[in-house]
This record gives sequence, C-alpha cells and structure tokens, in this order.
Amino acid sequence: MGSSSSSSSPSLAAFAVIVLALVLSSAVLCNGGKTSVYVRKLEKTVDMPLDSDVFGLPSGYNVPQQVHITQGDHVGKAVIVSWVTEDEPGSSTVLYWSENSKQKKMAEGKVKTYKFYNYTSGYIHHCAIRNLEFNTKYYYMVGVGHTMRKFWFTTPPEVGPDVPYTFGLIGDLGQTFDSNSTLTHYEQNPRKGQTVLFVGDLSYADNYPNHDNVRWDSWARFVERSVAYQPWIWTAGNHEIDFAPEIGETKPFKPYTHRYHVPYRASKSTAPFWYSIKRASAYIIVLSSYSAYGMYTPQYQWLKEELPKVNRSETPWLIVLMHSPWYNSYSYHYMEGETMRVMYEPWFVQYKVDVVFAGHVHAYERSERVSNIAYNIVNGICIPVKNQSAPVYITIGDGGNIEGLATNMTEPQPAYSAYREASFGHAIFDIKNRTHAYYSWHRNHDGYAVEADSMWFFNRFWHPVDESATSQ
Ligand SMILES: *[C@@H]1O[C@H](CO)[C@@H](O)[C@H](O)[C@H]1NC(C)=O
Ligand SMILES: *[C@@H]1O[C@H](CO)[C@@H](O)[C@H](O)[C@H]1NC(C)=O
Ligand SMILES: *[C@@H]1O[C@H](CO)[C@@H](O)[C@H](O)[C@H]1NC(C)=O
Ligand SMILES: *[C@@H]1O[C@H](CO)[C@@H](O)[C@H](O)[C@H]1NC(C)=O
Ligand SMILES: *[C@@H]1O[C@H](CO)[C@@H](O)[C@H](O)[C@H]1NC(C)=O
Ligand SMILES: *[C@@H]1O[C@H](CO)[C@@H](O)[C@H](O)[C@H]1NC(C)=O
Ligand SMILES: [Fe+2]
Repeated sequence: MGSSSSSSSPSLAAFAVIVLALVLSSAVLCNGGKTSVYVRKLEKTVDMPLDSDVFGLPSGYNVPQQVHITQGDHVGKAVIVSWVTEDEPGSSTVLYWSENSKQKKMAEGKVKTYKFYNYTSGYIHHCAIRNLEFNTKYYYMVGVGHTMRKFWFTTPPEVGPDVPYTFGLIGDLGQTFDSNSTLTHYEQNPRKGQTVLFVGDLSYADNYPNHDNVRWDSWARFVERSVAYQPWIWTAGNHEIDFAPEIGETKPFKPYTHRYHVPYRASKSTAPFWYSIKRASAYIIVLSSYSAYGMYTPQYQWLKEELPKVNRSETPWLIVLMHSPWYNSYSYHYMEGETMRVMYEPWFVQYKVDVVFAGHVHAYERSERVSNIAYNIVNGICIPVKNQSAPVYITIGDGGNIEGLATNMTEPQPAYSAYREASFGHAIFDIKNRTHAYYSWHRNHDGYAVEADSMWFFNRFWHPVDESATSQ
C-alpha cells in the first residue's frame, strides 16, 4: 500500500485494505474443493520380501526375465522389447509375428551390462521391432537358443483425431505390498487400460544400502506381468537419479538408462529424459524434473520447438507427464516443482495442454483449470486464477512407494485444489473422441470398479467448455 494514499485519504486506504482482505480470503484462503473424508487404515508400507511370489522366475537355463516393452518410435509402429538374462549373454533376437500371419519375423537387438557399487547387472537386452501394422495383435518370443518365453501386445490404432484409447496412470510404484495392490487394481479395473503412462519413481532400489540394484531386478520381475504385454511410457523421477559420487558415479541415472530405453531420438530430443510420442488421438510430452530446464538448456530448447509441432487436428489430446507436481497442496515436496512451473507454465496455457500428470507426492490430488502466469516479480499478482486455457493438474504419486503416504496437507485447502486424498491407487484416462475423455481415480481399498474421483474432460482445442461441474 503506498504511504501517500494512506496519509492523504485514510478512509479510502482502510476500505482498500478491507477489499484486499476479502479478495485474498476468497481467492487464497477460502476452502477449495474437496478434501476426502476417507481415512485409510494406517499400516506400514514395507517392501515385499525377495522370495515373494511376485519376484519369481520361470525355470530354465538363461531364462529371459524382467521382460518389458515401450513404444519404439514417434507414432506407434515400433516397440522396444527389453529383458535380462543371468547365465550368459545369449541371444538378443526377438521373434515376432502378427496374429493373422503365422510367418515369424526376426529383429536383432543389443546386450550390455553395468556395475554399481559391488553389484554387476545381468545381461540387459534391448531390441526395437519396427514397421508393425497398427491395431494388430503380435506375439513375440525372447530367449532364442536357450529357454524361450512367449508374450504378446497389441499395437495402437493409427494416429487420428477420433480414435478412442485408454491410458492407465501409475506413479511412484515401488515394490511394497501396496504396490502389488495398485498393480492388481490396475489389471482388474474393468476400464481396461491399454498403455500405462508412468510418472516416475520405479523401484526405490536407492532406498537400500549401496542402492542395492538387486531391487531394480526384483521390481522389473514384479511388473513384468503387465509391462511385457502393454507398453509403459517412462518418466524419470528422483529415485531414478542414483547419484553416487563417492564411488565415482558422477553421471546420474545410470541404472535407469541401462535398463529402460525410450524413443527420444524420434522426437528430436537429445536425451532420454524428455521426449514425445503420438499414440492414437493423444500427443504425450514427457518432461524431466531432474534435468536442467532453465532458459537456453537442451530441454528448454526442445520443448520450445516441440509445442508448436503439436497438430490438434491430428492429435486433439495434449498430455504432459513429469515427476514433480507444480500444483501440490500437501506438505510433502511442497513447492519443489515451482521453478519449472515458472519456466513452462505460460506455454502450457498458450498451447492449451489438456492435462498434466505428475507423481512424487505419495497421495492423490486433482486441480481446477488454473493459471498462475501473471506474476512477474514487480506486479505482485501471485494468486492462481481459473483459466479455461489452462491444464488440469493431477498428482498420481500414490502407487505404493516405500516411504509411506503423504498425509499432511496445507490448510485450508487452496481454491485451485478440486479434490485431494491420501490413499494409494491409480487412474484411468479414457479418450472417447476428439471432444470427450472420461477420467477416473481408483483407490486400492475399494473394489476394482469403484471410482473414488472422476470427471469428464472436454478437449481444450475442440470443446473448451468449463467441465468442472462434471466432477464428482
Ligand atoms: C555388496 O555389499 C553388501 C554390503 O557389504 C553385501 O551385503 C552384498 O552381499 C554385496 N553384494 C555382492 C554382489 O557382493
Ligand atoms: C500380489 O498380487 C497378486 C495378484 O493379486 C497375488 O497373486 C500375489 O499373491 C500377491 N503377492 C504378494 C507378495 O502380496
Ligand atoms: C494437421 O493434421 C491434419 C489432419 O491430419 C492435416 O490435414 C493437416 O495438414 C495438418 N496440419 C499441418 C500444419 O501439418
Ligand atoms: C487465460 O490466460 C490467457 C493467457 O494468459 C489469457 O490470454 C486469457 O485472457 C485468460 N483467460 C481468462 C478467462 O482469464
Ligand atoms: C505433519 O503434521 C504433524 C502434526 O501437525 C507434524 O508433527 C509433522 O511434522 C508434519 N510432517 C510434515 C512432513 O510436515
Ligand atoms: C464424443 O463422446 C461423447 C462421450 O461418449 C459423446 O457424448 C459425444 O456424442 C461424442 N461425439 C461425437 C461427435 O461422436
Ligand atoms: Fe519422487
């Protein structure tokens, strides 16, 4: 408040203070959406023991294990198949054939190993199979020459504006008993996710002494039952960093990058931590909270050139994945995403991103469509405002982790927060056509079909109508 106005006109100043206080209280302090009354029974979140059924191996010499697939190109006509053999390198060949043709084809991959502390990895194979037909079921086999195992996947429909497609959302999964419950709920959900958008923090191996990388292996065996049959789209979280300068590991992400390959070159990215894919009617941009993102950095430069390339006539749905959320009203990791928000949020509003999924906070939260881009350090306009061009921000870091649930929330609930709850679970983003997508969040303590939170998403390009009334 300027001192000249308060001395020349005290009543006006007092009035201004009252008005300001009212505006502030309604904009910031008043209760926002819903803080769920559901209180989860408190149990310890502990890792499943290494001899658990979920970590079991089929028998056989040099048997392939930890089989996983992800999209292998920009449009969905390629798949990267990865697996590990323990006894010897064996073959990096993938045999594959479509359901309609019995003629087997072959693709040749590569094998590598790495060391971390006193751990030496098995033989890690990665093989891209290309030129697949859209919308086709393929069988594939790995382990040629020794013990063979057979799996299958279905390629997505050709990219196009009205192609229905169902994505699952999982974050911060880990390998606890809760993680197993989350994965089971995802598998049993009648909405049938076709591809998982994974928002970071995979194994939590770094929670163990020497980041015991045996827990990277066990995690990959645990999730094989899903990720060998449908692609998981990977985002790097802080538990993928594995920074260990005391043993000379000064480059972050060593175990993660050896084990998980992504098609980053197909989107002209220069590093596997930020990239994009098209899948059916969605354009998915993956960002890295733990790589440089400031002005002039490779990630900044890439995203700046990437966003104008999105053609909403071809892919109406623009989805962004990152690990650290920008809008988070829990006390945990509070404001960790703030610096990246300051850099990129104006672009998200300008390019009308439909939804941003993040993890990191071990709980669930959904925002209103808000923008906080007006603030420029001198103008003092620092309150998020509703804006129909802005994305909905969803925190889905409730996969199971090992550190327990984030229960403390900032109070009162800020106006931008539409729904929040500290429970484990997963979500489904079910695209119907270019205008409509149905979103639901499923908590582990309910039956498989129960929706604890849901809303209809209206596409920001084709149908930019306020949809907040459609949420439960
Ligand atoms: C690595 O070191 C840890 C702790 O000293 C030990 O428990 C573990 O068995 C070692 N692992 C290997 C593969 O040598
Ligand atoms: C994990 O979940 C699966 C499927 O529900 C179940 O068969 C298995 O016994 C569970 N394992 C553990 C260790 O809880
Ligand atoms: C955008 O996609 C549509 C539909 O595929 C196509 O007709 C159009 O030419 C594309 N626009 C640009 C600028 O590439
Ligand atoms: C939403 O944000 C954009 C970009 O800042 C701005 O041009 C537009 O006026 C805003 N809309 C509303 C309704 O505030
Ligand atoms: C959570 O709240 C409790 C009680 O207010 C407090 O003791 C604790 O330090 C808080 N934890 C965090 C992480 O904020
Ligand atoms: C798009 O899907 C919604 C929800 O299923 C439906 O109500 C709407 O009619 C569909 N639009 C078109 C053009 O089919
Ligand atoms: Fe995290």
